[in-house]
Amino acid sequence: MNIRSLSESDAHAYQQLRLNGLQSSPEAYVSSYEQEAKFPLEFYKELLKPTPDKFVLGAFVNNTLFGMATFMRDTGLKDAHKGNIYGMYVAPELRGHGMAKALMLELIHKARKIDGVEQLKLAVVSENEAARNLYESLGFEVYGVEKNALKHNGVYSDGVWMALRLAH
Ligand SMILES: CC(C)(COP(=O)(O)OP(=O)(O)OC[C@H]1O[C@@H](n2cnc3c(N)ncnc32)[C@H](O)[C@@H]1OP(=O)(O)O)[C@@H](O)C(=O)NCCC(=O)NCCS
Repeated sequence: MNIRSLSESDAHAYQQLRLNGLQSSPEAYVSSYEQEAKFPLEFYKELLKPTPDKFVLGAFVNNTLFGMATFMRDTGLKDAHKGNIYGMYVAPELRGHGMAKALMLELIHKARKIDGVEQLKLAVVSENEAARNLYESLGFEVYGVEKNALKHNGVYSDGVWMALRLAH
């Protein structure tokens, strides 16, 4: 397994994996396949341009993209000490082999190196035991629960907010 930051040239593979994830795990994300299937490749190229405040990590096996996770720093004067994690996904055929944990460890490692980033946060649907276990195993702690955070086909899900402190 090889983990690296994605760039514009990975846009097509990223788009395919992202759409697969939205289609196969619609309950796990705020975004939806119906919305993103309409996005042009340019949208993903823009997203994948690394900046000091954002990067997307990809996990590859034999040069094929199977996993991904996104880091985005908050940009306000008062909240730039925080970073967000979005879009964690591992293709079903590669699950249970430590790919998500490896992505998260690399993301945390890179975030620690960004001057001024002190904590990471993310939201996970309360029923998503696999993802909750993953984040807890890395030291993330629950700091809040949003009732009825998502409504998908008339079904509500609670959102669990978790944070990891990188510095004091
Ligand atoms: C959640 C997800 C990213 C985990 O990916 P993965 O590569 O299979 O996870 P890993 O093999 O790295 O497992 C790391 C830890 O996560 C937890 N975990 C992973 N799969 C689990 C499962 N099916 N049940 C319970 N815990 C699980 C465990 O704590 C595991 O550590 P362990 O192996 O030491 O017990 C993957 O299942 C996925 O993409 N799901 C659909 C999309 C999704 O839910 N994304 C998260 C949005 S917040």
